[in-house]
Amino acid sequence: MSTGKSSSGKSAKASKPAKAVPGIHIGIDEKARKDIADGLSRLLADTFSLYLKTHNFHWNVTGPQFNSLHLMFEEQYNELWLAVDAIAERIRALGSPAPGSYTAYAKLSSIPEAKGSLSADEMISQLVEGQEAVVRTARSIFPAVDSAHDEPTADLLTQRMQVHEKTAWMLRSLLG
Ligand SMILES: [Fe+2]
Repeated sequence: MSTGKSSSGKSAKASKPAKAVPGIHIGIDEKARKDIADGLSRLLADTFSLYLKTHNFHWNVTGPQFNSLHLMFEEQYNELWLAVDAIAERIRALGSPAPGSYTAYAKLSSIPEAKGSLSADEMISQLVEGQEAVVRTARSIFPAVDSAHDEPTADLLTQRMQVHEKTAWMLRSLLG
């Protein structure tokens, strides 16, 4: 690993010119890119929280519906896991750091953690609420996205909203 010093002991920084990193010129100004990335960071935190909650319920669900719920939750957490990556990488493309710690997610997420032992129906209800919370967060980013003509983010948000609204409907249907 480089120590940042040349063999003579002098700082390599002093003798080398700084590398010029090209700026971001995609037709969206810096303030708009930051606003959209902040919204996407909330979406990332919600999506990660819902991922973890769904995986938790995959492990801990009990009752006569065990097999079908265990498998359904697995399908859902796998889909959420892939979405987390797509959202984080869009934040990076807009020039902001992607949050990736439990501390950051606890601060940014609108989805509360599951507490205590829950029945299968309580788990399903919490997942409906979680899926709908992610939709609301995604929808709240649209005004900034629309005014900046940020079509790639609009496309990502539209896809996420479609998945979450459909999943909320499917989960809700299990409750009669
Ligand atoms: Fe599993």
